[in-house]
Amino acid sequence: MTLAMAGLDDATLMDDTLAFQKTARSRRSFRGFLNTPVPDHILQEVLKDAQCAPSNCNTQPWNVHIVSGQKLVELSQVLHAKNAAGEFTPDFSFDMDAFYSIYADRKNAQGKAYYEAMNIMREDEAGRRQATALNFSFFNAPQAVFLFMPVFGDSVRTAGDIGMYGQTFLLSLTARGLSGIPQTSLGFFAKAIREVLGISDEMKMLFGMSFGYPDESAPGNQAPTDRAPITDSVTFHR
Ligand SMILES: Cc1cc2nc3c(=O)[nH]c(=O)nc-3n(C[C@H](O)[C@H](O)[C@H](O)COP(=O)(O)O)c2cc1C
Repeated sequence: MTLAMAGLDDATLMDDTLAFQKTARSRRSFRGFLNTPVPDHILQEVLKDAQCAPSNCNTQPWNVHIVSGQKLVELSQVLHAKNAAGEFTPDFSFDMDAFYSIYADRKNAQGKAYYEAMNIMREDEAGRRQATALNFSFFNAPQAVFLFMPVFGDSVRTAGDIGMYGQTFLLSLTARGLSGIPQTSLGFFAKAIREVLGISDEMKMLFGMSFGYPDESAPGNQAPTDRAPITDSVTFHR
């Protein structure tokens, strides 16, 4: 039943619409968090919201692992060590060089804005590596969520379901004054993460998300992204 069908008045409808618009349009990825854990009762509400995400045939294929405390410290140490050793064990490929034309331009613009915000020069390869490695410190967030999934066929549809879950999780965080960042980079170490968390080999990892209270003043948070006009993406057929 829609809100209008439920007989809600225009003012309520307007408030709900504006609240959603604010949430959707203000969500952004944060790369710097305060060291304040998200209280359990709030996290439970976020998880309830995310659980409402749609999925192919309502299969709800998300297998969700929330990590905090000493376990997160342990995981961070393992990820940094694997990253330094170049021991990548992703479940799904990710080729940064596969992006072409406008997609490559957007990828490059995002990277440039981030490194500039971090005050890292283009030729400073060590600096760039250090900034990238912040992914494995969870950008200082005191908790992170890891999104695993079972394998069905080529996994594309299931990955779509996981994306639906991830975005619902992120929007719920935003609506509560929290924030998060999806991280494919965590998925580069899927096998190691499975080992540390004791997760079955049957579950494959798509991405993880660091989340918490944003540190608005962190340098990594001074590079907001823009979006192309909708006319660049949307075609109406009538
Ligand atoms: C599935 C997915 C994986 C991502 N992986 C990373 C990552 O590993 N590290 C990172 O810094 N940002 C990562 N991002 C964040 C994107 O760079 C960000 O969403 C994009 O630049 C748009 O900015 P916004 O989220 O602030 O709107 C990822 C985003 C998505 C959706």
